[in-house]
Amino acid sequence: MAVQKATNVTWQEGEVTRENRYEILRQKGATIWFTGLSGSGKSTIAVALENALFSLGKLSYRLDGDNVRLGINKNLGFSEEDRKENIRRIGEISKLFGDAGTIALSSFISPYRADRREVRDLHDAANLKFVEVFVDCSLEVAESRDPKGLYKKARAGEIKNFTGIDDPYQAPENPEIHLHTDRMTLEEEVSIIVDYLKSHEIIKKQHLTRATDAA
Ligand code: ADX
Repeated sequence: MAVQKATNVTWQEGEVTRENRYEILRQKGATIWFTGLSGSGKSTIAVALENALFSLGKLSYRLDGDNVRLGINKNLGFSEEDRKENIRRIGEISKLFGDAGTIALSSFISPYRADRREVRDLHDAANLKFVEVFVDCSLEVAESRDPKGLYKKARAGEIKNFTGIDDPYQAPENPEIHLHTDRMTLEEEVSIIVDYLKSHEIIKKQHLTRATDAA
């Protein structure tokens, strides 16, 4: 848990509620959290899911390890402590997206179980849905894909603390969704997630009840 440093701060309530925002957007916010090795397929699935949700008229927004580390988290590296802070910040940002009414698609290696647990607890406490998706793939397959050439560098000792090589990855024990990207197609993976979101009423079919709604 991060320490509360600022004192004399209190939560400020607005007048427009979360439900009001959800009504405008005709959807509920939620977080879909992709965890897995580098090269396991997290970002690829998030991009495909974003497309699928868009065609269903649902607003989602991708938060991706590499992108976030080029911006808000540019001051963080890959030590255990920095990864923890990376995940804590993204957990908070995902929660804000959910509160705003957007479906956050958060793709981070997030190798430590305790850090993912904290993000889940944060969502539970805020009464926001949190769907952990384990993007599972053997190290051998991830390494053979090596889309960014990073495994090669890690094996050569040019990158230290590389997940799966000289840094740990703690697999989820009870993810809501478990995908095996070394034996499933991208289409299958996306449809498993979309079906989950529908069956858990995170997304619903849009019902147009008035003529003006279709405009
Ligand atoms: S996390 O462990 O803190 O969740 P995150 O998902 O943000 O990691 O960033 C991982 C991405 O950073 C990888 O996909 C890879 O492109 C890059 N990267 C650079 N160095 C490392 C490293 N030592 N370990 C893992 N990923 C690294």
